[in-house]
Amino acid sequence: MKKHKILVTGGTGYIGSHTSVELIQAGYELVIIDNLSNSSEKVLSGIESITGTKPEFIQLDMRDEALMKQVFESHPDISACIHFAALKAVGESHEKPLEYYDNNLKSLLNLLKFFPEHHPVKIVFSSSCTVYGNPDELPVSEQSPIKPAMSPYGNTKRIAEEILQDYVSSTKAACIALRYFNPIGAHPSGIIGELPQGVPNNLMPFITQTALGVRETLQIFGKDYDTPDGTCVRDYIDVLDLAKAHVIALERILNKNQETNYEFFNLGTGKGVSVLEMVNHFQDVTAQKLNYKFAPRRAGDVPSVYADTTKANQILGWKAEKSIAETIANAWKWEMNYRKQENHEK
Ligand code: NAD
Ligand code: UD1
Repeated sequence: MKKHKILVTGGTGYIGSHTSVELIQAGYELVIIDNLSNSSEKVLSGIESITGTKPEFIQLDMRDEALMKQVFESHPDISACIHFAALKAVGESHEKPLEYYDNNLKSLLNLLKFFPEHHPVKIVFSSSCTVYGNPDELPVSEQSPIKPAMSPYGNTKRIAEEILQDYVSSTKAACIALRYFNPIGAHPSGIIGELPQGVPNNLMPFITQTALGVRETLQIFGKDYDTPDGTCVRDYIDVLDLAKAHVIALERILNKNQETNYEFFNLGTGKGVSVLEMVNHFQDVTAQKLNYKFAPRRAGDVPSVYADTTKANQILGWKAEKSIAETIANAWKWEMNYRKQENHEK
């Protein structure tokens, strides 16, 4: 059977690169587009060392209409798209809201505009649990209300889902929006992983960098939340589990198995883990002592968010499989490999 050709936007990024590996291993042919604003072309060699295949790569900014048109003209056989490309730093989005709206929404509009006319758009979209804001009830199910966004970044995800719903309802397009909770971890090979630029905002890379001495001390933001140990609770989902869900969602669209043309699913483990528990898990798994101190609450943090994953479990037949220990071990392996390689190159 002929392989489907899949367009992966943001495919050199953190989740995009892990999903690209899974897609290649599942037999798909890829065209990756990325402007490398938050990733490196070196990731392509990583994907090649794991899979034996170097995917086609086009460096471009998705906001550029002419270049996006060209992608589809030169690849009329693209069957579907997984759309990861976006700016994603919550704090930065407060400082540069227009940049976030421009980047995240124009990229999506160009994708929909230039997708070939001869077959309807099929798209898996990277959404976020941020669309639920500070939820009234836990765990958060897909029936939980969409709340006003806590940041311009979060708002781009809410608006993008609305654009996709409107588009799907007036065309023959098909879409699955995947609402990720907190993705962490790395490929078990240690060859690809999360590579934030500058000082990490997210917890896991801050922990691994602190353990290696790249950062001095981890600050735990807030110890007086209404949670079992006073620190915030999140649902940390392994990036490989997440990547596998994309392959399932893609196949659901390609095989026309959807119940409606616009579907959305929570992707998490269903378990809440506090910041302090995460620190302790890390110390147990890696036998590293972590320097940490308590600091004031971080603006915009919600006390507790974790997923009800019943819908994804039942309808997609997908379940998070990796243990937190395995996920942390992979993140640690990746961080050590990366730093070793970096020192080597200096
Ligand atoms: P990432 O920054 O590692 O990857 C995004 C990629 O998109 C980067 O390689 C970047 O260079 C590229 N990109 C950004 N704007 C572009 C543009 N205009 N044209 C072309 N390429 C562009 O981020 P990630 O963690 O892999 O996230 C992937 C997707 O998942 C994003 O849409 C993000 O909002 C969403 N998401 C991430 C998380 C998380 O915690 N990592 C949680 C929920 C949702
Ligand atoms: C946020 C966004 C999410 C987005 C993700 C990607 C919200 C509610 N969530 O997740 O939509 O997709 O970022 O960037 O906006 N922490 C520390 N010290 C640190 C770093 C983090 O204590 O140095 C704590 C935070 O306070 C939080 C937890 O660790 O309680 C997780 O933080 P983080 O990894 O930044 O993810 P979220 O804020 O949950």
